[in-house]
Amino acid sequence: MKILLLGCEGQVGWELQRSLAPLGEVLALSSRSTEYCGDLANLQGLAATVAAFAPEVIVNAAAYTAVDKAQSEPDQARLLNADAVDVLARAAAERGALLVHYSTDYVFPGDGLQPWSETDAVAPLNTYGQTKLDGERAIQAAGCAHLILRTSWVYAARGNNFAKTMLRLAGERESLGVIDDQHGAPTGAELIADVTAQAIVATRRTPALSGLYHLAAAGETTWCDYARFVLAHAQALGANLKIGPQQITALTTDAYPTPARRPANSRLDTRKLQAAFALTLPDWRQGVARMLTEIHGK
Ligand SMILES: NC(=O)c1ccc[n+]([C@@H]2O[C@H](COP(=O)([O-])OP(=O)(O)OC[C@H]3O[C@@H](n4cnc5c(N)ncnc54)[C@H](OP(=O)(O)O)[C@@H]3O)[C@@H](O)[C@H]2O)c1
Repeated sequence: MKILLLGCEGQVGWELQRSLAPLGEVLALSSRSTEYCGDLANLQGLAATVAAFAPEVIVNAAAYTAVDKAQSEPDQARLLNADAVDVLARAAAERGALLVHYSTDYVFPGDGLQPWSETDAVAPLNTYGQTKLDGERAIQAAGCAHLILRTSWVYAARGNNFAKTMLRLAGERESLGVIDDQHGAPTGAELIADVTAQAIVATRRTPALSGLYHLAAAGETTWCDYARFVLAHAQALGANLKIGPQQITALTTDAYPTPARRPANSRLDTRKLQAAFALTLPDWRQGVARMLTEIHGK
């Protein structure tokens, strides 16, 4: 199987380099690749890459992911999250290739308490969410075989994420305030990459599996409790921190204004994915604990 992987240096892209390797020939590109264009901002270059490599599967892990910055750079966010995805989707449709793409809990408005299912109405609160939704719609309109995997609160040992920011701040500060009224599930890039590989194999065998799925770890938390878990676990592993979970104060979203509004309810219902691919998604704490052991374990 020939697989084109875009965004190979990101949190998810890095793990995909590992999980896709056993499936066949993987061409892994970043925005800086030279032999083939892997720059999502270069729409002609992207189309040329697909034409030249002739992949059977395209996995797009590249995106404009700076949620707050997207508010002041909507054109760049749209170029990467929607226009480039449209190019990939059309190219996949033309070639009969399967397109795998990642989307976000931020397509939802965040009201209520129930986990969002794939059929729930979307209404993004910010530019990033809107551009990701436009990307989803471009794929659906192009009519290519696809897996759109909406995930949430992504972390990895390699890359920038909330857990690593908390570890850094806990090494520098005497106290920390963290938002406690947004609910969701931290989801590991390793898990996303492993599920992706399984879903590709299954969808190539059974094309009717093509579609939109929610992919998040099991359970739920808030950013505040997530931060407390991270610090408690890191301390137990012997990390050199100035503060522990007791020095984290719970904040409301109102007390911590950001350029982009964020949903209070980011819970994702993953039953469709688990049933379609016969998978069991582990509790979020399992993957976070593993990442912390990778960072701080002896
Ligand atoms: N992170 C989250 O919490 C989260 C939550 C829900 C959904 N998602 C979705 O999950 C997917 C993977 O996210 P992630 O956490 O792995 O993101 P990430 O770590 O921020 O990686 C994104 C990658 O996209 C690359 N990229 C940026 N501009 C590019 C361009 N013009 N051409 C090619 N590549 C470019 C970045 O490369 P450079 O660093 O070189 O620019 C980076 O490697 C994305 O679709 C994202 O929207 C993420």
